[in-house]
Amino acid sequence: ERTRIVVTRPIAHEAIRLLRQAGEVAEPGREAVLEPAELRAAVAGADAIVSTLQDRIDGPLADAAGPGLAVVATVAVGYDNVDVPALAERGVTVTNTPGVLTDATADLAFGLLLALTRRIGEGERLLRARTPWRFDLGFMLGSGLRDRTLGIVGLGQIGQAVARRARAFGMEIAYTGRRRADPAVEAELGARYLPLADLLRSADVVSLHCPLTEATRHLIDAAALRAMRPGAFLINTTRGPVVDERALAQALADGEIAGAGLDVFENEPDVEPRLLGMDNVVLTPHLGSATVETRTAMAVLAARNVLAVLGGDPPLSPVRA
Ligand code: GLV
Ligand code: GLV
Repeated sequence: ERTRIVVTRPIAHEAIRLLRQAGEVAEPGREAVLEPAELRAAVAGADAIVSTLQDRIDGPLADAAGPGLAVVATVAVGYDNVDVPALAERGVTVTNTPGVLTDATADLAFGLLLALTRRIGEGERLLRARTPWRFDLGFMLGSGLRDRTLGIVGLGQIGQAVARRARAFGMEIAYTGRRRADPAVEAELGARYLPLADLLRSADVVSLHCPLTEATRHLIDAAALRAMRPGAFLINTTRGPVVDERALAQALADGEIAGAGLDVFENEPDVEPRLLGMDNVVLTPHLGSATVETRTAMAVLAARNVLAVLGGDPPLSPVRA
């Protein structure tokens, strides 16, 4: 029987071409994301699944694929939608796409930060509403970044890339995480380790770069927001549920923090309605890795992971259970 590779969402053609070297590729239509039952039907008999963060991949789904399933390659760095231990139990390798989306995501985090501190979205809305305005020395003043402290939550590849950008803007770097970074990384970035509570208290900008896990769900809750400085900004480009979005709306309404830049949301595609009306909030629709080059590189890496596993070689970027 021919090797069957199921791709759940449209991906770069370059990746499809690679996958065809290993077997027959079932591509989705251009329509909506597959519902769980449709997804189960679609993966039947699959040796490999190329999925995205929109697909819930768990033990029952692997069982629906059948005993031939060898690899699930998710086209994303975050894999909170995948029950990795359940797949490992069934002998299924899971891979993700770290590295190739680091710069794109760090760029977007910084774009949100600049849009927020320099009131770019607000200024855009003012012009598009044809509001009368003129240059004035006191008009729409924002805040600068030099000598401000950026507090990074999770100094992985993306957190480090954000720190490098921040250094170029003259910012001080503090970070927190499950463990201390390599001393060489700390030295290169001039990054100071702080426990979360101290980081929240001292940072002018808090930018989230930790994965979503049971430990980080609602890491930024009402108490964390209250601990932040009243002039501080929050940036989230990781996963929505790391922030309690309703508590964030309340903290912004109460002036507990100065603003927020959000690319991800707790219940995508929904956004907490109160945030939509706030001028000190910049919102983008989960665009962290959304460049042509990056999305192509992600799909190609996922395809190479599939080829490796189906060919009996070690995967390039496996996820540990
Ligand atoms: C996107 O959100 C990703 O995890 O790659
Ligand atoms: C502002 O536009 C300046 O020229 O300083």
